[in-house]
Amino acid sequence: MRLAAAFATVASLLLASYSWAAPAAPSLGPRPGQIKNFVTFGDSYTDVTVVSNNGTQWPVYAAGYAHLNLFPFAHSGAPCSQLLTPRPFPAVVQNELPEYFAAVGNRSIRVNPEETIYTLWIGTNDLGPNTLLTGGVVNNATIVDVTKCTVGWINTLYKSGARNFLYQNRLPLYAVDSYPNRFWTAERNTTAWNLFINELAVSGNEIAKLMLQTLPASLPGAHIGLFDSHSLFNDILDNPSQYLNGTAPLNITGAVHACRFKTDESTSDPGECTDAEGTDRDSFAWYDELHPSEQSDRVVAREIANVISVSPEMRSMNLLTFIRSVLAISPRTRAAAHGPKPGQIKNLVTFGDSYTDVAKPRNNGTQWPVYAAGYAHANLFPFAHSGAACSDLLTPTPFPSVMQNELPEYFAATGNGSIKVKPDETIYTLWIGTNDLGPHTLLNDEVLHNATIVDVTKCAIGWIKTLYKSGARNFLYQNIIPLQRVPLYSVDGYWNHYWNQPRNRTE
Ligand SMILES: *[C@@H]1O[C@H](CO)[C@@H](O)[C@H](O)[C@H]1NC(C)=O
Ligand SMILES: *[C@@H]1O[C@H](CO)[C@@H](O)[C@H](O)[C@H]1NC(C)=O
Ligand SMILES: *[C@@H]1O[C@H](CO)[C@@H](O)[C@H](O)[C@H]1NC(C)=O
Ligand SMILES: *[C@@H]1O[C@H](CO)[C@@H](O)[C@H](O)[C@H]1NC(C)=O
Ligand SMILES: *[C@@H]1O[C@H](CO)[C@@H](O)[C@H](O)[C@H]1NC(C)=O
Ligand SMILES: *[C@@H]1O[C@H](CO)[C@@H](O)[C@H](O)[C@H]1NC(C)=O
Ligand SMILES: *[C@@H]1O[C@H](CO)[C@@H](O)[C@H](O)[C@H]1NC(C)=O
Ligand SMILES: *[C@@H]1O[C@H](CO)[C@@H](O)[C@H](O)[C@H]1NC(C)=O
Ligand SMILES: *[C@@H]1O[C@H](CO)[C@@H](O)[C@H](O)[C@H]1NC(C)=O
Repeated sequence: MRLAAAFATVASLLLASYSWAAPAAPSLGPRPGQIKNFVTFGDSYTDVTVVSNNGTQWPVYAAGYAHLNLFPFAHSGAPCSQLLTPRPFPAVVQNELPEYFAAVGNRSIRVNPEETIYTLWIGTNDLGPNTLLTGGVVNNATIVDVTKCTVGWINTLYKSGARNFLYQNRLPLYAVDSYPNRFWTAERNTTAWNLFINELAVSGNEIAKLMLQTLPASLPGAHIGLFDSHSLFNDILDNPSQYLNGTAPLNITGAVHACRFKTDESTSDPGECTDAEGTDRDSFAWYDELHPSEQSDRVVAREIANVISVSPEMRSMNLLTFIRSVLAISPRTRAAAHGPKPGQIKNLVTFGDSYTDVAKPRNNGTQWPVYAAGYAHANLFPFAHSGAACSDLLTPTPFPSVMQNELPEYFAATGNGSIKVKPDETIYTLWIGTNDLGPHTLLNDEVLHNATIVDVTKCAIGWIKTLYKSGARNFLYQNIIPLQRVPLYSVDGYWNHYWNQPRNRTE
């Protein structure tokens, strides 16, 4: 068994904790043997009553492997909240949490906070058809709102006394193969779905991680683990022989119970099914077109049981990345966080794309940097180029990029003395992203190295690090405007200068 070695690469568990008494030495999460109760929340992946793998679900295995009492509250079909991604199924916020509180209230379950761990695995229904993927949200909900909702589950339970949490992030959903199936039979562009669901899963997981990292500061004594389901399933799919053990050829593209439908056929029809039987079933990663197989569930259970019952020393070797509480910011750092004093800034150095390029004014007039330098009486040093993306290594365009052109041009200019700027008196701005996100880049997947929104955003943050190393100290990061409201991208968009081929305007 290659569990210990594998887990380091597969599932990085991030245990964040904060204690008022000793912020510098956060405790490492529950001690071995400390946890006796296992309270589960989520959707069909975790529901033990309406089973999604036609066998035994992972929470039952995990409770068995780690000798825990299971208190299951997950419901098939669940979204996080009906106020964001409404569905005709119970939701975590409106049903699962109230059911748990009712059960605690009438004493039908008794769980001591010290001895109890709470898990949440949710998102598949929030990200999928009829919600974020195809539209059907309310209150203009985005991936950010839906992710906030899942992190809110920790806040709510914490207030009631809960202290130990395991947050299971979202699977690589885009890996599931696509034909009309019981979950969707209407016409669709499978490439576009695949691209968008990948962006949603990857960016939602990254947003969750960042939100979880800041959470312990406001929740003293909480132990929060991030279980990386995304990496675990990628590893199952990349190295199936390490995980799948059935008697049929290993199968990561099909399903134990695979049913093909005709386009637009009713999803309540049975479809044309191919079923694997008996020990053949353990050769499959997926049970059906959406759900993990029982053997994949055993793997999830084994990894979760290990996370809960292995000793902290072992975890720090193999399983965990620890983070420090954000409250540990020193007073000096905090003072610096107020930004430059009035009158301090004399130079404005601008980076970006056509929104900021002053040599080729795309607004057929005067661009904002010229106005801003005028209004603030600053010297302008413009380095933005029309058409720029952040990096040619992620979203290549036939135009100069920030990393490969703009920064080198700035360093050449400071190097030969043609511009001289004192760090204290200079502010650097970056407004980038429109070209990284648009047609010919992320929107149509013309990227390199499988780049996602997360990589492109990391690149923009890297601009700060690069300038900092050269001495720069004041930065203004301009985020991306609501592009969905720009005429090019709006649902009533027409053929224009930037795109004149057929497209689905809602997607
Ligand atoms: C579910 O599993 C049982 C055996 O455990 C099998 O008889 C049945 O056909 C399976 N159902 C489906 C839909 O795969
Ligand atoms: C306690 O509340 C739960 C959840 O509402 C319910 O299922 C259970 O039947 C109740 N038990 C008792 C003893 O009242
Ligand atoms: C959703 O956004 C639109 C503009 O795109 C706005 O008119 C509307 O009021 C918003 N609705 C809610 C519920 O926030
Ligand atoms: C499907 O979507 C992809 C990615 O957006 C696009 O390149 C392709 O042209 C689309 N196919 C059809 C038939 O619309
Ligand atoms: C595969 O391994 C699991 C343990 O992870 C075991 O329960 C199962 O019976 C095995 N399946 C087969 C077909 O041997
Ligand atoms: C995988 O399973 C599907 C049924 O879902 C089947 O059509 C396909 O041939 C299988 N592939 C392999 C490599 O066995
Ligand atoms: C650009 O502005 C000039 C006047 O400043 C005007 O004559 C010209 O028509 C404008 N061009 C476009 C394409 O709007
Ligand atoms: C300094 O380098 C910049 C950027 O390469 C160039 O545009 C400029 O002409 C150079 N100036 C001198 C004085 O060499
Ligand atoms: C991109 O991802 C695919 C699998 O989705 C993989 O086969 C390929 O090697 C990846 N390419 C790079 C450059 O990482």
